[in-house]
Amino acid sequence: MNAPEPAVTPSQRPMPHVMNTYGRLPIALSHGRGCWLWDTQGRRYLDGLGGIAVNTLGHAHPKLVPALQAQIGRLIHSSNYYEVPLQEQLAAKLCELSGLDAAFFCNSGLEANEAALKIARKYGHDRGIERPEIVVYERAFHGRSLATLSATANPKIQAGFGPLVEGFVRVPLNDLGAVEAVARERPNVVAVFLETIQGEGGINPARWEYLQGLRRLCDARGWLLMLDEVQCGIGRTGRWFAHQWAGIRPDVMPLAKGLGSGVPIGAVVVGPKAVDVLGPGNHGTTFGGNPLAMRAGVETLRIMEEEGLLANAATVGAALRGGLERELAGVAGVNEIRGAGLMIGVELDRPCGLLLGRAAEAGLMISVTAERVIRIVPPLILSLDEAAQIVAILAPLVKAFLAEPGP
Ligand SMILES: Cc1ncc(COP(=O)(O)O)c(C=O)c1O
Repeated sequence: MNAPEPAVTPSQRPMPHVMNTYGRLPIALSHGRGCWLWDTQGRRYLDGLGGIAVNTLGHAHPKLVPALQAQIGRLIHSSNYYEVPLQEQLAAKLCELSGLDAAFFCNSGLEANEAALKIARKYGHDRGIERPEIVVYERAFHGRSLATLSATANPKIQAGFGPLVEGFVRVPLNDLGAVEAVARERPNVVAVFLETIQGEGGINPARWEYLQGLRRLCDARGWLLMLDEVQCGIGRTGRWFAHQWAGIRPDVMPLAKGLGSGVPIGAVVVGPKAVDVLGPGNHGTTFGGNPLAMRAGVETLRIMEEEGLLANAATVGAALRGGLERELAGVAGVNEIRGAGLMIGVELDRPCGLLLGRAAEAGLMISVTAERVIRIVPPLILSLDEAAQIVAILAPLVKAFLAEPGP
């Protein structure tokens, strides 16, 4: 057994005045360019993490930077007391890309999900359901506000924060029978809420036929289909939104992460069933939809189109996954390599959190999620050569790790 960690007092921590809510590596990043980052010691890293699926355009993109600089010089924030033309511009674009009808803007993924949950509840109340229920999923992650952590499946994230928000019914992913059973037994259900590809839960895709089945069930029951595309949306899988691979449309779609290429932003995009649920006074935010964030969203989508980043995510993602499969498939201890486009998970048969630090030491940023899944969610500008470099750094680390004697 390992010796217990010595207690660290606040003054011994590198950032003693920052609340101690993250386990951080002792690396301070200074700047970035493209898919590369440098720390304050001058060491260089290949970015296989993209700020956890956020930095769509990489770092210091030559088209994004001047656009944001110009916006900062003009207007950073106004207020939702007034019209914000850039909100309409971004909302119209998101509607064009998704086939949905309208958007509400906020600042993060959990806020987008919180808005979705409020829409579902109000949708129920509007239909005379006093205690509406929402179907949620095992291994789901939707954020860390009280409502979204209650919808999240991870007991570690919920521990210490009870009582949880009620009104959630949990089912396993990709089991349509389980949702049909809920439909038979629970008359108060108003919505099904899931990540199209679970991110924090370990890169677990909802199968296309499953999504199609959910769409049919939601239509038959008058439920809202709410797809959390906070992590898998905005081109990451090679389509604008991951559910588009299944040829369906949700009624409610929360977005965040990649939409602003690093500028905080969230959005919930809704179709005809949900578009009139919220009215003036039902929901709001001070910062949400401010001109700086909206400009980041508009420019991100414009540059993605201009540079063909959906096709790039599909091609480079396939090459990256192919490279990992070539190097790691069949290696004892590698359970599965899965995902879509540039959202890839390598599941091992054991906890592998320490690979985060080892990869960083070797000059690669990645993450480990659900304890045993190495997650790669790089900027969508990743080149084939950079994908090959990720494989060349990561595969030997994984093999060496798996060859070590177990605990
Ligand atoms: C699918 C999904 N939903 C919601 C969230 C929460 O987003 P945020 O951290 O911006 O609140 C995340 C964050 O990882 C996520 O992956």
